[in-house]
Amino acid sequence: MEPMKLIAGNWKMNGLKASVAELETLVAASVPAGVELLLCPPATLVAGFAAKATGSAVRIGAQDCHRLPSGAHTGDISAEMLADAGATHIIVGHSERRADHGETDEIVRHKAEAARRAGCVAILCVGETLAEREAGRTLAVIAAQLEGSVPPGAKAETLIIAYEPVWAIGTGLTPTAAQVAEVHAAIAGQIGKGIRILYGGSVKPGNAAELMAIPHVDGALVGGASLKAADFLAIAEAAAGAGAGA
Ligand code: 13P
Repeated sequence: MEPMKLIAGNWKMNGLKASVAELETLVAASVPAGVELLLCPPATLVAGFAAKATGSAVRIGAQDCHRLPSGAHTGDISAEMLADAGATHIIVGHSERRADHGETDEIVRHKAEAARRAGCVAILCVGETLAEREAGRTLAVIAAQLEGSVPPGAKAETLIIAYEPVWAIGTGLTPTAAQVAEVHAAIAGQIGKGIRILYGGSVKPGNAAELMAIPHVDGALVGGASLKAADFLAIAEAAAGAGAGA
């Protein structure tokens, strides 16, 4: 049996208290069978959204965490704090954090371990740049990122991988189905253990069915199209139609 498809929204640095209207639409909607919905708003909204989503099929996650549980780290937020606020999942190693904050594979591994320590599932992002793809280095780059950032002993209950080609994020470009299939098969071959693998990068209602039907694609990590509940739900519907839970 295939695992449930996870459709996860990453709001990045978007969303104010008024954005709860989008969450309310998600909470009121019927989530298609075989699909799980997760929304990762900015940290300021995690507690409020988690309270609002209680008892619904929508879970709330966070976008980053510090590797330590507490301490003198002004401005940082620990995985324990996010779990306390109601987060069930924490994205770690997003390419925007690797680029904006110089996060290395080792830092990302520590963050994934922190998420597990706090009882959250880490959604660990990997992906190649356009230059790396054009140089024929995609599989080597991703293998090295996994080698350096997946915590030892990671299990399907505590870790999800997100393959996000850097050049596909926010650009409207997506890899071909064959390119996605090649990378997802390689990731599954390297880490195995039933760990789910999401695809992310310009997932929209119009391309979700094709992407979600690719072997070893267990869901989507959605940026821009997750900001509008209608688009996010349309992606979930497409994932259900693509054979979720089959
Ligand atoms: P877009 O869906 O806006 O391309 O963003 C993808 C992403 O980075 C999700 O983490």
